[in-house]
Amino acid sequence: MSDHLIPQEINSANSTITVLGLGHIGLPTALGLADLGWKVIGADDDAKKVGLIRSGDPIFFEPGLSELLTKHLQSGKFQPVDDVEAAVRAASIIFICVGTPQKASGQADLAQVEAVARVVARNLNGYKLIVEKSTVPAITAQWLKRTIVRYNAGKSLGAPGGSAPGSPAPLEFDIASNPEFLREGRAVEDFFHPDRIVCGVDSERARKILTDLYTPLGRPIVITDTSTAELIKHAANAFLSTKISFINMVSDLCEKVGADVTAVTRGIGLDSRIGPQFLDAGVGYGGYCFPKDLRAFIHLAEEHGVNFSLLQEVEAINQRRVDIFIRKVHETLWTLRGKTLGILGLAFKAGTDDIREAVSLKIIQALLDEGSILRLYDPQAMPNTQAVFPPSTDRLTYCSSAYEAAQGAQGLLLVTEWDEFRQLDLTRVREVMEVPILVDGRNLFDPATVRKAGFEYVSMGRDKARGVATKAHTPKPTA
Ligand code: UDX
Repeated sequence: MSDHLIPQEINSANSTITVLGLGHIGLPTALGLADLGWKVIGADDDAKKVGLIRSGDPIFFEPGLSELLTKHLQSGKFQPVDDVEAAVRAASIIFICVGTPQKASGQADLAQVEAVARVVARNLNGYKLIVEKSTVPAITAQWLKRTIVRYNAGKSLGAPGGSAPGSPAPLEFDIASNPEFLREGRAVEDFFHPDRIVCGVDSERARKILTDLYTPLGRPIVITDTSTAELIKHAANAFLSTKISFINMVSDLCEKVGADVTAVTRGIGLDSRIGPQFLDAGVGYGGYCFPKDLRAFIHLAEEHGVNFSLLQEVEAINQRRVDIFIRKVHETLWTLRGKTLGILGLAFKAGTDDIREAVSLKIIQALLDEGSILRLYDPQAMPNTQAVFPPSTDRLTYCSSAYEAAQGAQGLLLVTEWDEFRQLDLTRVREVMEVPILVDGRNLFDPATVRKAGFEYVSMGRDKARGVATKAHTPKPTA
């Protein structure tokens, strides 16, 4: 690939950006770029989704997103379309934000990414910078480049101004990796105020385009090669998952010895080398990223014969959290069959309506299997949850408030750390419950405050474990 600069400067004054895929990453990215002054085409092959977005519906909850969508539909800076081929032809920079779901093996399913590469290959009508934003395993950029060359082979629609039919257009493109670090519930905030921007490039012109694009954000820009950038993304999510499983492992020991895991978090988190974030013990991590990205990272390592057993244990610890929580509910409530339980929080985390790999889904299923009667409430995620667990008059009720979920309940389970739950009038909650027992899966509440309000209260890693003394752990003999 030649390294000379493109014939003309690519900038927001004279170039268009196309964002392919209008999901949790694509839509905030497209609107963020529009807010930076770029003309942005948002392309998705789901015409229904595009229609809703075009009507001003961002189709998922994300603080600040709806306002940004309205603003840039009106400014004309953002144009949602379902003609992906035309969108590719119209752009000088293309951000790939399509889904990378996981296969049963844990491997990332890159079929959507390859499909996009073929569309680009067919519509390479002049220089384009193709930027991976979806989370992909390292060396995907190399596959993208190879695929575009393979499927271009003279099939382009010709250079600007049209070339003689059948003559191959100049094969001018670069691939870059620009992984997103957006957190759901903070995607708009994280777009404009990222800790850092990682740009994996294999040419000076790609470096210049992305550096010019992101400089207005005034944040550190880390320039690497593409494979390094791809690996940074997986390593970041894997490390954050490791912190969470680490503190959950410690939380279980805290219960055995009567220590307080929230104090452990404070005590170790004040060490600037550790930091307090992502050390909140609870029912574990969910979401579309951590579980999937960890498995993809492990799979990538296994493909290359590298031992990633540490991360396998990170995943195993996380998968045990639901069983630990249900056991805690049993130890606190005794029998569960026929008992009415309120569940506060369904989204995989606060600030989103997303329930993908949410711990709540596993907890609901386990309690339904136990024969409990459930009253559910979440500020945003109930419509998505109803698609998985439809309401049923005798077993499953969706409520319009936390107080309604507590109505007549013999136990209340806190599963998602919404701020709204922190503000609850605990006296009112206690008055509507049949038995005031609160099992806090996210250590959201202060134990003394809850107990003073008249509750029996248990949480994660802050109560001496009940039940029979467990036998001493005999460590496995080391190989
Ligand atoms: C994550 C990464 O943070 C983000 O950088 C990446 O781009 C996408 O994946 P997200 O999945 O939106 O973002 O949620 P995040 O805020 O990271 O939380 C993930 C899960 O961990 C949630 O279920 C949350 O409840 C849980 N969590 C988080 C804990 O259990 N304890 C913590 O201390 C922090």
